[in-house]
Amino acid sequence: MLSCQKSSFSLDPDVHYLNCAYMSPLSKRVEEAGMAAVRGKRTPWEITPQDFFDTPERVRETFASLIEGKANDIALFPSVSYGIATAARNLHPKAGQNIVVLHEQFPSNVYTWMRLSEETGADVRTVYRPNGTVLSEVHEAWNQAILQAIDASTAVVAIPIVHWADGTRFDLEAIQHRCHRFGAALIVDGTQSIGALPFSVSALRPDALITAGYKWLFGPYSCALGWMGPRFAEGFPIEENWINRKGSEQFAGLVDYESDYQPGARRFDVGEKSNFILMPMLLAALQEVSQWTPEAVQEYTGRLVAPFEDRIREAGYQLAPASTRGAHLFGIRLAQGQSVAGVRQALSERNVSVSVRGNAIRIAPHVYNDEADMQALVDALESAAAA
Ligand SMILES: Cc1ncc(COP(=O)(O)O)c(C=O)c1O
Repeated sequence: MLSCQKSSFSLDPDVHYLNCAYMSPLSKRVEEAGMAAVRGKRTPWEITPQDFFDTPERVRETFASLIEGKANDIALFPSVSYGIATAARNLHPKAGQNIVVLHEQFPSNVYTWMRLSEETGADVRTVYRPNGTVLSEVHEAWNQAILQAIDASTAVVAIPIVHWADGTRFDLEAIQHRCHRFGAALIVDGTQSIGALPFSVSALRPDALITAGYKWLFGPYSCALGWMGPRFAEGFPIEENWINRKGSEQFAGLVDYESDYQPGARRFDVGEKSNFILMPMLLAALQEVSQWTPEAVQEYTGRLVAPFEDRIREAGYQLAPASTRGAHLFGIRLAQGQSVAGVRQALSERNVSVSVRGNAIRIAPHVYNDEADMQALVDALESAAAA
């Protein structure tokens, strides 16, 4: 069983940071990797052509093993929107077909599909969250509605593993079966789960999995990763950069222009993917996350939160059953008529950092959180409810 990892971070002891869904804090190991990487540019003559490839390759390998995939299928992106745009560039829905997305899905996985819809005449089909007060029933009904929305006219299903605002879990296995049956491409945004929730591309076989690196993967901002399945094997990138072309390791021959790409998903890598500062940080982060393991992160966060769940509900808040949401990411809805400002105030007085969205609070604990962090959160919630 994983123990609390607070000592691996430089967190302010007075702050209760329960907001990894916003951005992970920097671990000491990743910070060290970043500092060493910054110093590396003092001596550019020591950066060899091989260095342009080595760290990116290790990043590919480490990320691939975290999601049970192959390094050859991993692409390096600067953002999720870039990865989604790469997938969209290689999908060709027709007028009359549809692209399935979810209600209030994160915009990086929506705007590109809206654009593709304008360009092709395919419809964006949004699956709304059903109304209801029994959260387990809402969860079940939403998952059913997603399955029903996927039919013979569906070209693409672009969804997350858990909803970014409240951690609602989607039944990816059933969704994949439905996509497979109708030949629809399944594009998964794993940003709010990969690293914290076990996921296997070999078992699930989506068409693409794209995830930001700066949240549950503990990397720096401006790094994202993609696993691109066989559907994209011969795809085109959204930019044509020199390093993605075959033989680019030979710097002397770069103007012998080459029409083939580097093998596998490397063709989709962003230009300047070798990023000598961010890549070593991302590698250190992926190594650290791989050591904890996503299974242990779920177990740890579940164990941390479980003793407080009844108190949260007894104070009048709505909290979905653990089986319908992530242990690492969940929403708490305020009671009818309860003031959001009052909750904000109570949280801020106790230095509790979470995200407040509308009448819901998003809680996102990780292995650096301990009982005192949860205690401060629940004290704040109880005092706001009693006011
Ligand atoms: C579900 C989800 N996808 C993607 C992102 C980030 O997207 P991008 O890398 O395009 O900024 C976020 C950020 O909060 C997110 O929650």
